[in-house]
Amino acid sequence: MRVLPHFLLWRLGLARAETQTTEAERDCLARHAAGRQRLVEIGVWHGVTTSRLRAAMASEGQIFAVDPYPAGRLGFSAQRYIARREVRKSKNGHVRWLRSTGAEAGRAFVMLKEAPVDFVFIDGDHTYVGLREDWEAWNGLVEPGGVIALHDSRSTPERDIEKAGSVRFTREVILKDPRFTEVDAVDSLTVLRRVG
Ligand SMILES: C[S@@+](CC[C@H](N)C(=O)[O-])C[C@H]1O[C@@H](n2cnc3c(N)ncnc32)[C@H](O)[C@@H]1O
Repeated sequence: MRVLPHFLLWRLGLARAETQTTEAERDCLARHAAGRQRLVEIGVWHGVTTSRLRAAMASEGQIFAVDPYPAGRLGFSAQRYIARREVRKSKNGHVRWLRSTGAEAGRAFVMLKEAPVDFVFIDGDHTYVGLREDWEAWNGLVEPGGVIALHDSRSTPERDIEKAGSVRFTREVILKDPRFTEVDAVDSLTVLRRVG
């Protein structure tokens, strides 16, 4: 649905926050996020998956919600407005909002000497270069035993996305990285664990 009509309907309680993930993917994300302490989501949109991850993580955990949220024609980001309210529905742990790209957020983490993270969900820029930038910025910040989940990283019987940049980068680079091992794959989602 177009942004303004959806926003108005959402304000009236007549439309839900949107997500491109399937229910099975969200269940898989929640399983891997369960009990985690330091989580990152790159690409938040309406906050549907952020909210789910927040509810699943440890009670003292924190999730970094990263999205550049460019202002739309209305002069503000309707997606950001919706996400803020959706993610507030869970009171678990803490949320830190970073209005930047995934790559910028990764560089800020390094500069600020932030502690390593134990869960990263990459669902931002799905081009080859976009995923490469997020991967390069974040894979070294995941502690051993931590996971990185990638959306739109594989085709499904219903959706042939073999030519998508995110699928090609996952296949050509990420799945060949010896520091990570694939531990789950549901619909277009791939989950990898950082080995010791
Ligand atoms: C597919 S949506 C995310 C959906 C969300 N994870 C969910 O399933 O509910 C993609 C989001 O990524 C954001 N985005 C685009 N480029 C990005 C980048 N380089 N870094 C972080 N986020 C980005 C967009 O603003 C958009 O909100």
